[in-house]
Amino acid sequence: MSGSDGLAGGERPALIVLDRVGKSFDAGGGTVPALLPSSLSIEDGEFVAFLGPSGCGKTTLLRMIDGLLEPSSGTITVTGEPLWDRGRCRKDLRSRLAMVFQDPALFPWLTVEENVLLPLRLRGRLPRAERTARARAMLALAGATDIGSRMPDEISGGMRQRVSIARALSYDPDILLMDEPFAALDAISREALNMELQALWLATGKTIVLVTHSIAEAAFLADRIALFSQGPGRIDSVVDIPFPRPRMRELTYSPEFQQTVRGLHERLAQLMERS
Ligand SMILES: Nc1ncnc2c1ncn2[C@@H]1O[C@H](COP(=O)(O)OP(=O)(O)O)[C@@H](O)[C@H]1O
Ligand SMILES: [Mg+2]
Repeated sequence: MSGSDGLAGGERPALIVLDRVGKSFDAGGGTVPALLPSSLSIEDGEFVAFLGPSGCGKTTLLRMIDGLLEPSSGTITVTGEPLWDRGRCRKDLRSRLAMVFQDPALFPWLTVEENVLLPLRLRGRLPRAERTARARAMLALAGATDIGSRMPDEISGGMRQRVSIARALSYDPDILLMDEPFAALDAISREALNMELQALWLATGKTIVLVTHSIAEAAFLADRIALFSQGPGRIDSVVDIPFPRPRMRELTYSPEFQQTVRGLHERLAQLMERS
């Protein structure tokens, strides 16, 4: 379990600090809570998983961190600066974040490479040759080499998700937010993408927040897991996952790993009974 004072080592603020962040939606003349006040500090370079039952508010929280949705209560800071300022999201802070969705949502009329290039073209900061080099490097980093000229409907679901990860990385965000990115994939593709995501994270030092409802996926990938209670949920507790890196597939067969998964399972079941 860990505290949520937001200060790493007593002086430098954590990369992302959620301080009693909550969200309610308007419905039928009143408001309905979607996420109860939740606090968490995420350090630079950490891999954090959000784990909890459907409808507990994981996506809502991720959307608030991505600056798509304003919190109803509490504050979100990025390196000590509030993400929201008088109802508006700070664009400079938002550009440090990128989101990967469950549905890769590639433009079907653009090639793979053009899809990855699109955010770079829209931002227009790099000359064309550098943009192309960067798009190719990001495709390679995401495990999608040599498919740049293909169309999205010509490649597998696993490849499409690799492309969407490459697209998210294209403008070099510090923080990758991933909302159940592998939920639609078959088990074998999902394992391959888990391994590649770990490798990518180790190679780049990005901070990753991964939403999943797979206990094993969270335990395999994360340094820490934020456990959510059933909806309207909140972050109930944070569990450290201390297995050394790089983690290999064999780890998942070990008694230590299975013990960890069982512990998380029991904790989640308790949280669901309680509500
Ligand atoms: N735009 C919205 N308007 C109204 N209710 C919403 C909206 N988005 C999410 N909710 C509700 O908020 C709760 C949490 O949803 P969500 O964050 O999607 O959960 P999760 O991602 O954990 O499955 C659910 O009850 C959902 O119906
Ligand atoms: Mg969700």
